[in-house]
Amino acid sequence: MTSTIESPVLRTNFEKSVAEYWNTNRIDPVNLRLGEVDDLYHHHYGVGEPDLSVLEGPADTRDERIIAELHRLESAQADLLLDHLGPIQPHHKLLDGGSGRGGTSIMANRRFGCEVDGVSISEYQVGFANEQAAKRKVADKVRFHFRNMLESKLETGSRQAIWTNETTMYVDLQDLYREFARLLTFGGRYVCITGCANDVTGLRSKSVSRINEHYTCDIHPRSAYFRALADNGLVPINVIDLTAATIPYWELRAKSSVATGIEEPFLTAYKEGSFHYLMIVADRI
Ligand SMILES: C[S@@+](CC[C@H](N)C(=O)[O-])C[C@H]1O[C@@H](n2cnc3c(N)ncnc32)[C@H](O)[C@@H]1O
Repeated sequence: MTSTIESPVLRTNFEKSVAEYWNTNRIDPVNLRLGEVDDLYHHHYGVGEPDLSVLEGPADTRDERIIAELHRLESAQADLLLDHLGPIQPHHKLLDGGSGRGGTSIMANRRFGCEVDGVSISEYQVGFANEQAAKRKVADKVRFHFRNMLESKLETGSRQAIWTNETTMYVDLQDLYREFARLLTFGGRYVCITGCANDVTGLRSKSVSRINEHYTCDIHPRSAYFRALADNGLVPINVIDLTAATIPYWELRAKSSVATGIEEPFLTAYKEGSFHYLMIVADRI
C-alpha cells in the first residue's frame, strides 16, 4: 500500500497571517451588515453610480439606506465580473479563487445553473459559505473548500472559467497562473478584478503601502499581471479600468457608519493615480 503526504493548506507564515486575518475579522461589521441585506456576503468593493438620495431623508434610517446602496454596488461589481465569463452552460464547472463568504459563487450558480467550487484559506469563511449554500439549497452544486488556490487539488482541465475577485494581492502571480493554466480547459476564461499599483508613477506610494499594511497583502504592480498571464498561456482579451467607477462607492462608504478608516488611503491612491481598480479578462490557449 502506498501513502502520499499531503502538503498543508497554509504553507508559509505569510499565508498563516492572511488566514488569521480572515478567521478573526469575522466580526468586522461592514461585510456582515451589507450581506444581511439579501444574504449575499461579499468581501469586495463596489462599482457604479450610487443613488445619493440615500443621504437625505430621516436620520434614524440613513445608515440602513447607505448600507443597502453600498451592497447594491458590490453586487453590481460581481455581476460585471460574471458578465465576462463567456457563455457558461449548466454542465460547466467554475472556480472562485479566494472565495471569501461565497457571494460571487452563489450569484454565478444562480445565473448559469452550473457547478462552482470556491477555495479559501480561511476555514471560518469556508464554513460560513457552505452554510449559505446549504441554506439556499444549492450545496450539491456550490461547494467551498479549505484549500490554497495555489494548490487547489482540483482536476486538471476541469474548469471552463475561473475568477479571482480581489484575491490576487495575497499570492505570487506566477504560482497562481501556473495553477489556473493547469485547471482551465483550452479556450477557458479567466477574469480578475483587482487593485494594482501603477508602474508609471514609480514604486509603491504611501497610500498603497497603507492599504497593504491594513489588509496584510502585497499589491502587485500592473505590469506583473500581464507578465504572469503571458508566461502561463493566458491571453488578455479585455482590460477595463474600473477606477473611475469605484471612486463614488468609496466616497459614499466614507460617509457611512461602517467606514473603517481605510477609505481615505483608497481615495487618495485612486485619485493621485498610484493605484488602479482593474478587470482583466483572459483566455487560456
Ligand atoms: C478580499 S477577500 C475576497 C473574497 C471574495 N473573492 C469576494 O469577492 O467576496 C480575499 C480572500 O482571499 C482568500 N485568500 C487569500 N490567499 C489565498 C490563497 N492562497 N488561497 C485561497 N484563498 C486565499 C482569503 O481567504 C479571502 O477569502
